[in-house]
Amino acid sequence: TDLHPDLRTDLLVIGSGIAGLTAALHASQNMDVLLVTKSEAGEGSTRYAQGGIAGALDRDDSPAAHARDTLVAGAGLCDEDAVRVLCEEGPGAIRELIDRGVDFDRVRGPGSPYALCLEGAHHRPRILHAGGDATGVAIEQALLAAVHGSGVVVREHTALVDLHLEGGDVVGAELMTTGGGRLRVRAAATLLATGGAGQLFSHTTNPAVATGDGVAAAWRAGAAVEDLEFYQFHPTALAIPGAYSSFLVSEAVRGEGATLRDEHGARLMQGIDPRADLAPRDIVSRTIAQVMAAQDGRPVRLDATGIAGDRLRERFPTIDAAVRAAGIDWGHEPVPVTPAAHYWMGGIRTDLDGRTTLPGLFAAGECARTGVHGANRLASNSLLEGAVFGARAGAAAVEEARRRDPSAGRHISSGAPRTAAASPGDAVRRAPRATAVPSPASWTRTQLQELMWARVGPLRTREQLDTAAAQLATWTAPDPATATTIGELENRNLLDLARLVATHALARPASVGAHHRLDPIPEVLAC
Ligand code: FAD
Ligand code: SIN
Repeated sequence: TDLHPDLRTDLLVIGSGIAGLTAALHASQNMDVLLVTKSEAGEGSTRYAQGGIAGALDRDDSPAAHARDTLVAGAGLCDEDAVRVLCEEGPGAIRELIDRGVDFDRVRGPGSPYALCLEGAHHRPRILHAGGDATGVAIEQALLAAVHGSGVVVREHTALVDLHLEGGDVVGAELMTTGGGRLRVRAAATLLATGGAGQLFSHTTNPAVATGDGVAAAWRAGAAVEDLEFYQFHPTALAIPGAYSSFLVSEAVRGEGATLRDEHGARLMQGIDPRADLAPRDIVSRTIAQVMAAQDGRPVRLDATGIAGDRLRERFPTIDAAVRAAGIDWGHEPVPVTPAAHYWMGGIRTDLDGRTTLPGLFAAGECARTGVHGANRLASNSLLEGAVFGARAGAAAVEEARRRDPSAGRHISSGAPRTAAASPGDAVRRAPRATAVPSPASWTRTQLQELMWARVGPLRTREQLDTAAAQLATWTAPDPATATTIGELENRNLLDLARLVATHALARPASVGAHHRLDPIPEVLAC
């Protein structure tokens, strides 16, 4: 059926984190771009990024060395071509961020070399950071400022419902505003940059918007999705009830010398891996999960008491404030920590230019599965992926939009934009007043998150996965046609994705990377 749109644009970008903003900036030099985003434009995982962005910028470093660390952390499942692109184009993408105004920390004052820090599984310090541990804020602000001066039309509080298909091609999307109105956009190309899905789990470092909407919509539209069983659990989220529950304590704190200990004070990672506390994230997280299981679920401890209090405050101001607000004087006492869902290695399968398997549809950032992370992402490679592949996807989407609609981009020279600058309420069809909100009844988001954490979390068995899959199969998704809130749409996406993650995890009986099976490996796979 033909789409009767409320708005037309050359390129529709969905999501305003590092990937969506970078893609929009690259495309906007050539054509009309409409960027929609579910909450305020600054909200998303990007702004919470702490540790930094990895890149071979130092004279003694090289893209090949960065690639080697990425491949090792990925546990043999990375796409080597994608890793090569990431590491070779990484320094250029970081310079572009610097040119856009990101003020990365330096060793001393202005003009001195950039301060590079160490995180797990990197063989040398190569991580740039800003504001100590506020790297994401600095990047998000700089990109938003650039977008606001670029001609990209930004529409906040507007969420993807589903993609529109014509003859198998993606031709735009249906959107919902926070007020429940519906909006149809026709686009010559559509680019998903909707981030991860940490909200699948009861413990996550991710913000509330991380409900995997783009991956779910792409899958429903028929795009290939891959590696969904690989969810990265960050080893060290604050384990205290209340406001700071699941607040991330950056791996960079271990990079500065902090150590992990059990509740009796014994070092956890010694004897487990030669890299000890700086082993790849999957190894550290599952060791903690096993120790916590042995201590009846009580958290382990991150001991930063060997680092001077002044240094903690100066190097990690955001974490310092959160830890102290939680009543912990971490210069003198250990911090209780637990693993928490952090990053999705899997997602919408793309090629090196963000093309999905559906014509007209592109994906970049955490919602994409480029293959750079394999079974376990190397620390601080995600912001880098958003910058490198966001740019590539933005450029490729321009080419695709021009091919499909030769008039795309014409206004750039004529000065007549085709995308209406949308004000709240423009062209929005109000949803019919809900008389009876359809009740998917027997489940709540909290139940789904608890089920996923308990049965599809850092340690998995066939029995647990079977139980989760069986339970998930009994639950009904909210009907998108009658949904009146973005929350209902999110619940539908979370249920679709929870089933997919459980199914993918069941389909991989052997442990690899972040997918850790506790049950014996079938003999046929053991050899
Ligand atoms: P996001 O930044 O998450 O942006 C997604 C966007 O899509 C948001 O604007 C969201 O509102 C929007 N959206 C979602 N659904 C919809 C919808 N239905 N309709 C419209 N819009 C939608 N990585 C590193 O490399 N280094 C770090 O130091 C680091 N630290 C981290 C710390 C924390 C606490 C967290 C949570 C993550 C961290 N990561 C880090 C991971 C990294 O921040 C993310 O993987 C990365 O920022 C993802 O960027 P993105 O653009 O793909 O998605
Ligand atoms: C952290 O600071 O520990 C997070 C880094 C990352 O997710 O890459």
